[in-house]
Amino acid sequence: MTKVLVATDKAFAPVAVKGIREVIENAGFELILLESYTSPEDFIKAITDVDAVIVRSDKMDKTVIEAAANLKIAVRAGAGYDNIDLAASTAKGIVVMNTPGQNSNAVAELALGLMVYYVRNFFNGKSGWELKDKKLGIHAYGAVGRNVARIAKGFGMDCYAFDPFIPREVIEKDGIKWVGSVEELYSKCNFISLHIPANSQTKQSVNYPLLSRMPSPSVLVNTARAEVINEADLLKMFQERKNFAYLSDVEPTNKSEIEAGFKARYFCTPKKMGAQTEEANINAGIAAARQIVNFIKNGDKTFQVNK
Ligand code: 3PG
Repeated sequence: MTKVLVATDKAFAPVAVKGIREVIENAGFELILLESYTSPEDFIKAITDVDAVIVRSDKMDKTVIEAAANLKIAVRAGAGYDNIDLAASTAKGIVVMNTPGQNSNAVAELALGLMVYYVRNFFNGKSGWELKDKKLGIHAYGAVGRNVARIAKGFGMDCYAFDPFIPREVIEKDGIKWVGSVEELYSKCNFISLHIPANSQTKQSVNYPLLSRMPSPSVLVNTARAEVINEADLLKMFQERKNFAYLSDVEPTNKSEIEAGFKARYFCTPKKMGAQTEEANINAGIAAARQIVNFIKNGDKTFQVNK
């Protein structure tokens, strides 16, 4: 029988697991659930003899992939697949997919939530400020960026977007101001919301030359990936600018240094929370399960990312 492993160190909501189970079992497959595991060895043990796997941000490095003797398909229930070693997967003939767009509203809602939390002084009772009429720069206009734009417009924010891969008309059709360079985006906006993936082009690309262009006060919101930030430069921004803030869903490695010096202008969720809603779990988890069934039964490779 075809075995499908769901390996999530950050578990899906039970209602999403129920939906995934239905899809897998209705297809005549067996579901193996490994939730909230604490050591990579548990993942390695569980993946050894399965045909398919659904993961979230769970690290599928070369060691994990090489241990997966029967694996044919790995689906990242979510957008970013930087946690999966694509080269090692391709070398073993494993198809890797993601589920684009399925959790994007949840991440976008959190990005705006972080902004509100900060401008209201972390709800400490002191007078804060409002998002209305403030300039927001959306750095990358994919599924999450578009949802951020929609919600931010509801707040009355003045929205700009930069994305070299998205046609200008698409951005303008949404009522968002298109900007032609990343430098221009940062120069214009007091708020920047990051929605770029982590890859060889973007890693550490949000650096001092870019951040220092932001007008004051400047608020950087990162619901994307920690790796896209140059952390030494982030610290420099905190040191040089009295009103620079960083709000994040992905913990920086120099978190203790930032917290020690700049607590009032920094907030990071204790656990990555962007996609952690029932709706996003259901959407991404069930999409992943369906993609697996469709691939195994019909050879459908839509959403493959390691072509
Ligand atoms: C994604 O890439 O889909 C998001 O970062 C969500 O990641 P998560 O599934 O680990 O919460």
